[in-house]
Formats: sequence, structure tokens, C-alpha cells
Amino acid sequence: MDILHSVILVGHFIGLAAIVGPFLMQARWKGQFAFPVVLGGAITQLVTGLVLVGLAEMGGDDDGDLNYAKIGVKLTIAVVIFVVALLGFLKQRKTPGGGGRELLPFFHAAGGLALVNIALAVFW
Ligand code: HEM
Repeated sequence: MDILHSVILVGHFIGLAAIVGPFLMQARWKGQFAFPVVLGGAITQLVTGLVLVGLAEMGGDDDGDLNYAKIGVKLTIAVVIFVVALLGFLKQRKTPGGGGRELLPFFHAAGGLALVNIALAVFW
């Protein structure tokens, strides 16, 4: 179970990178945002995060109690990230040329909230 936990945790970090990486790289761009990558990262975070919780509940770790308040807040933020990434992705698909500034709030919301979730994961 330990190796499974480690593999899923690596996936959790890759999903994190897929959201934060494009955000840091394209934060000052005016369009052409990498929504497909961010959306993939958002889905990865939801799936790997929930599997991590499941593994911990099965007693895979010896840390004792799970912090369900923290998990609930992280899950809520991850769902919001998924929704804004999906909206940005769908709107971008409809816009010839990859979309412009009108998609910036979706892109920044996804990246900014991912940074919030990192801080929550580490400090709470
Ligand atoms: C954008 C969304 C997310 C980001 C950026 C994120 C970030 C992180 C980070 C940086 C860690 C490592 C913390 C540490 O080891 O000290 C972590 C661990 C963890 N995350 Fe997330 N997370 C996200 C979404 C979620 C979701 C949706 C869930 C579950 C509902 C979740 C559940 C967990 C769990 C259970 C761990 C502990 C893993 C372990 O060490 O066993 N995460 N997350």
C-alpha cells in the first residue's frame, strides 16, 4: 500500500505542476492560455486527492486522524479550479485563435487558487 500511496502522491504533485506551471509561465500573457493542461491538472488533483484520502482512511498511514476540515476546504477549492478551468477550456474552443483577455480571469483564478491550496496543504 505504501508504494501505491507514493505513486498517487507523485501524481498529485504532477497535477499541481500542470496547473501552477502554465500559470507562472503565462501569467502576463494576453491570450493563448494553456487551458487543456490546466484542466488536466485540475482533474488529476481531484482524482489523486480523493484516492489519497481513501488510502489514508483504509489505514494506509499511521498518522492517526484525518483532518476532514482541511480536506473539505481543499476539495471545495479544487472543484472551483476544475469549474473555471473547464469554462475557460470550453470558451477557448469556441473562440477562433485561442481566445484573448476575456479568458484571463478564468486562467488566473485557477492558478491563484492552486497556490492557495498548496499553502493550505503545507501550513494547515
Ligand atoms: C489544486 C488542488 C490541490 C493542490 C494544489 C494540492 C496540493 C497538495 C500538496 C502540496 C500536498 C503535499 C503536502 C505535504 O505533504 O505536506 C498535498 C497532499 C495531500 N492532498 Fe492535496 N492538493 C490539491 C487537491 C486535493 C484534493 C481535492 C484532495 C482531496 C479531497 C487532496 C488531498 C490531499 C491529501 C490527503 C494529501 C496528503 C498526502 C499524504 O502525504 O499522504 N488534495 N496536496
